[in-house]
Amino acid sequence: MKNRINQLLEEISQLAATNQEELEALRIKLLSKKGEISILFNDFRNVANEEKREVGQLLNELKNAAQDKINELKESFSNSGASDQKTDLTRSADPIKLGTRHPLSIVKHEIIDIFSRIGFTIAEGPEIEDDWHVFGALNFPPEHPARDMQDTFFIEQNPDVLLRTHTSSVQSRVMATQKPPIRMIFPGRVYRNEAISYRAHCFFHQVEGLYIDKDVSFADLKQALMYFAKEMFGPDTQIRLRPSYFPFTEPSAEMDISCNLCGGKGCQFCKHTGWVEILGCGMVDPNVLENCGIDSKIYTGYAFGMGVERITNLKYQVKDLRMFSENDVRFLQQFESAY
Ligand code: PHE
Repeated sequence: MKNRINQLLEEISQLAATNQEELEALRIKLLSKKGEISILFNDFRNVANEEKREVGQLLNELKNAAQDKINELKESFSNSGASDQKTDLTRSADPIKLGTRHPLSIVKHEIIDIFSRIGFTIAEGPEIEDDWHVFGALNFPPEHPARDMQDTFFIEQNPDVLLRTHTSSVQSRVMATQKPPIRMIFPGRVYRNEAISYRAHCFFHQVEGLYIDKDVSFADLKQALMYFAKEMFGPDTQIRLRPSYFPFTEPSAEMDISCNLCGGKGCQFCKHTGWVEILGCGMVDPNVLENCGIDSKIYTGYAFGMGVERITNLKYQVKDLRMFSENDVRFLQQFESAY
């Protein structure tokens, strides 16, 4: 009996199996009810009494060794995965889903790109502002309707703390702290107390431009804007300036571009005029320069301000402004390859 046990122990230490079936066959051969080890256990009662203690111990060792070996082999299969039918190692990996830039970011970056090519640098200002930087410094008279609750969001009933209604507020901050020449653009979010519809929202985005130096003229403004329009909407784009009014520029103008959908022939989009409005601009009013500590006898400058939503509508024909803030992936996914 002892010889047989030692022989089996030796065999077990050298056991090998290459797949699950072989392993199962080994388990049955050794450990099942009619397996070799069970047979030895059955023979145990024939062992002489004085040997029972020693042989019993050996038998238990044998059983444990067999069980351990089988467990060890089993584990080696599941780790290598080689015989695991469910894992296909030749399958290509799941593609990583990349996000997309928001259309307003795409257009904002394009505007920044275009102006940086002609020497404009960037600055930003706070969205929560005071009356002076949004209105006062920019020559708005005290009774101007833009200061009204109807148009401006105030913070906690305090008429001096408000959400900026335009990025022109960054003009007043930059002019008060920097010496000319100043050639900068100011992108940012602005807020107005408007009823939300397909064409208006209570927040939107603007990019402001400001150029202050000696001898800056209206012709410089026209050149810069024409360059911008052609870069943004294509080389055949025409521009048209219409006289307008802003408290902080004199003279002031609004700029139209030839409708980029019909090429100026007239369509529904441009209401059959051939032109679409894209921005406001003008020569910085001398009062504004003085308010900000710049000598208006030495320096002149121009400023312009455009709505990023407006430009995006024209570039991508998004007819409803609300799409920009609804975060609908079916809308956003369409801009996957845009930049
Ligand atoms: N701030 C003006 C607006 O929000 C746009 C503008 C900017 C006009 C600079 C002239 C010069 O409508």
